[in-house]
Amino acid sequence: MIMLEITNLHAGYAGLEVLRGIDISISPNEIVALIGPNGAGKSTVIKSIFNISDVTSGSIVYKGEEITDLHTHELIDFGISYVNQGRVIFSNLTVRENLEIGAELIRDRHVVEKNLSHVFRKFPVLKRKAGQLAYALSGGERQQLALGRALMQNPSLLLLDEPSLGLSPKLQKELFETISQLREDGLSILIVEQNAKKAIQIADKTYLLEDGKIALSGGKDIIKHEKIKNVYLGGRY
Ligand SMILES: Nc1ncnc2c1ncn2[C@@H]1O[C@H](COP(=O)(O)OP(=O)(O)O)[C@@H](O)[C@H]1O
Ligand SMILES: [Mg+2]
Repeated sequence: MIMLEITNLHAGYAGLEVLRGIDISISPNEIVALIGPNGAGKSTVIKSIFNISDVTSGSIVYKGEEITDLHTHELIDFGISYVNQGRVIFSNLTVRENLEIGAELIRDRHVVEKNLSHVFRKFPVLKRKAGQLAYALSGGERQQLALGRALMQNPSLLLLDEPSLGLSPKLQKELFETISQLREDGLSILIVEQNAKKAIQIADKTYLLEDGKIALSGGKDIIKHEKIKNVYLGGRY
């Protein structure tokens, strides 16, 4: 079975075409990385899956079902979670309240509590700081909160837009370990990353997006490709 299959996707914003016919597929329990220069359309791929950009043609199939026109809340219900670029959290709410917002579509209180204790096991610092206002969290803790909030829906597919942005090398390393762990837990993950080297290392499959098209794709040995070597020397643009 394929978890997510994107076929010949054309998408953009109000008449501006950004994605010009792309194909991406994600298998269950797989980390797929999306790399490429600024403005290539990486975030737009994620936004298209989550139905917050304009899809003009092509299809997005999740677990065998066409989801291209579904509303965002239906997608969340289906098990797709999204952590946006910039890890937006509600600074004036507590850590626990931020997490509970992530579960607002879940009516069953027991399920919410169960997911909450799962997130607290995964991120013990969030448990320790559950009653504190989120604005007092460090950068790394904010990232954990943003991830934790997405996990409150108990998703099958996690969409991560540049989760390592602005984190120190040490925190980036921890974050990538956490993401690998989430795959061990059974999730499928689509990750947009500026840090191409890290992304290729952690991913089962990587797609290079350039100017709204897939320029290259492959497994870990993609790192040896001339295109990658030339452009990404040193790991960052
Ligand atoms: N909400 C929006 N409205 C109009 N244009 C947008 C919007 N978001 C992004 N774009 C444009 O779409 C293109 C691709 O953006 P994006 O997908 O964010 O690229 P990336 O994530 O690869 O840096 C850019 O030219 C950007 O200016
Ligand atoms: Mg982006």
